[in-house]
Amino acid sequence: MIPPDFIDEILTRIDIVEIIEARVALKKTGQNHTGLCPFHTEKSPSFSVNADKQFYYCFGCQASGSALKFIMEFDRIDFIPAVELLAARVGMEIPRDRNSGSDEKQQHRKSIYEILGLSAKFYDEQLRHHSQRDIAVSYLKARGLTGQIAKEFSIGFAPAGWDNLYSALAKTNQERTLLIDSGMVVEKPEENKIYDRFRERIMFPIRDLRGRVIAFGGRIIGDGKPKYLNSPETSVFHKGRELYGLYEARKSNRKLDQLLVVEGYMDVVALSQNGINYAVATLGTATTEDHLDRMFRMVPKIIFCFDGDTAGKNAAWKALIVALMHMKDGRSAKFLFVPDGEDPDSLIRKEGQDKFNWRLDQSKSLADFFYEKLQEEVDIASIEGKAHLSQLAMPLLMTIPVGVFRELMINQLASITNLTSEKLQSLAGVNIRSKSSLKSISKSALEEIPSVIPDIPHGDDYAHYPSDSEYEYPDQLTEGSSELARKAIGLLLAQPELATQLDDKEIQSFELGRGCALLLDIVRTILAEEIGSPVFLLVKYQNRPEFTELKLLAEVEQLLGVSDIPAEFQGVIRALQEDRNRQSREELKRVLLAKPLSSLNDEEKQQLRDVTLNKG
Ligand code: UTP
Ligand code: MN
Repeated sequence: MIPPDFIDEILTRIDIVEIIEARVALKKTGQNHTGLCPFHTEKSPSFSVNADKQFYYCFGCQASGSALKFIMEFDRIDFIPAVELLAARVGMEIPRDRNSGSDEKQQHRKSIYEILGLSAKFYDEQLRHHSQRDIAVSYLKARGLTGQIAKEFSIGFAPAGWDNLYSALAKTNQERTLLIDSGMVVEKPEENKIYDRFRERIMFPIRDLRGRVIAFGGRIIGDGKPKYLNSPETSVFHKGRELYGLYEARKSNRKLDQLLVVEGYMDVVALSQNGINYAVATLGTATTEDHLDRMFRMVPKIIFCFDGDTAGKNAAWKALIVALMHMKDGRSAKFLFVPDGEDPDSLIRKEGQDKFNWRLDQSKSLADFFYEKLQEEVDIASIEGKAHLSQLAMPLLMTIPVGVFRELMINQLASITNLTSEKLQSLAGVNIRSKSSLKSISKSALEEIPSVIPDIPHGDDYAHYPSDSEYEYPDQLTEGSSELARKAIGLLLAQPELATQLDDKEIQSFELGRGCALLLDIVRTILAEEIGSPVFLLVKYQNRPEFTELKLLAEVEQLLGVSDIPAEFQGVIRALQEDRNRQSREELKRVLLAKPLSSLNDEEKQQLRDVTLNKG
């Protein structure tokens, strides 16, 4: 039970416009903000959000309610997680209540948290009392960590052996199941064996904002592979969303106003020990949209820390691409590059806090990094180079939310290229709502994009490590795309606004057509979010297993260099529909042939004749 006045309190603190805007494209129209309704399919906006009343309403389908209701319906989550989400956004903690939920699933989640908490306690005890504890303690000491900091981060020790945790915690069948479901033990049914996932490792509990343990990272003591092992995805742990150290940063820092994003567990802990207590680490993945969303809800300033080598620069660039769309006015993103061969852990231990703070002060602004990186690829002394630069930059800049920062970024480009910012904006032509812009869109402005984003983070860079082999996306569009669907997707990736040309019947035919699931998903995404920029579309899919395929399709389309993309698209859609018609004829034929001929009525006989003759 969550006290009702707690919910009121949350609702007075959040802004419904901001909540909805993060999920649905909205335009300010007088008192209200309007956009396409996310709850029914429509082509002109009838969905409105009222900031004064903190209320949304759809004139088309009458959907209405508060921010809380919106989150529940749009994110398709239950009441409690929706409240949690909003609470986290305004930095409030739900009052803990030992009241048991009736919902079975919720009960299960609760038990998962409990077993994870018990596991953390177990590892903590091993660090203090196990006969082999010296191995772990001297390892931590050698890495410069005090007992105090180990305690703050609840660092523990998983001793050698196959079933230490399992035999300590699995007293009942239910506990056994919970240990499996929480990823703490691994089941090998073919061998009828169960063993601890983490063995001979330093254990780093990963906690959510309420301090509950949701997963672990385990570092091997000494050498060995894999160096770090993470918990698999579970019902309470989604790797692409969580940040190690966020809970601890908030806890030790009531007025948190910035976050430093680093790569490793040890970086976070070592920085904290040396007075920088606002570092967080992604968990073996690149920075994702979810990460940024989370962080920017809590603080207005983020500093990304990367290696100064090429790989580090590329990783920073990926983070920048994702950050752009979060750069509302008032937010800032900066980049700190550490010298070759160092990481924040080694650096702060070597140089100390003051020098590190000095480095932080020197970190690069997003704007500087953005233009420096792009200018490495073109020669801006030449006219061609300037043209190229604007082609590279504009689609990316258009992913920045409308505001002063975006204007400033475009102005900077204008002064580099000697083009006016109006000219630059028309070059990018991203307003998909006005049909006329379809024609004026400059293909060249969109052409180069995938080369600038060699690899948008897909949130699972370490998928090849054994710990993650079980990892699967929950809602993967498993069915592969048909040849024609792939062609259509490629064209949409070049010009997303083509989706607005489709009529309902055509879209419906994708629903039934074989191999069209991804195509349908993309079309819906473009329409629902008014996506006009190829980059933005790609970024939407960055955390999906389909991402690699999409990026490939975007590149193929470019190579083909189709001169008239809209016409090509029309052709492909027509072919898809013919395909679909053929498919349904075949289905009908199969149904009819399955019956004895004598049982068919006249109409069915005629149908059979038709479908047989019409065989395409
Ligand atoms: P690094 O390989 O850079 O290690 O991995 P590190 O953090 O400097 O580790 P130490 O200092 O040798 O202990 C950075 C991060 O990448 C993930 C982990 O999250 C790690 O903190 N990683 C790395 C894995 O998930 N698995 C691995 O095998 C290696
Ligand atoms: Mn390190």
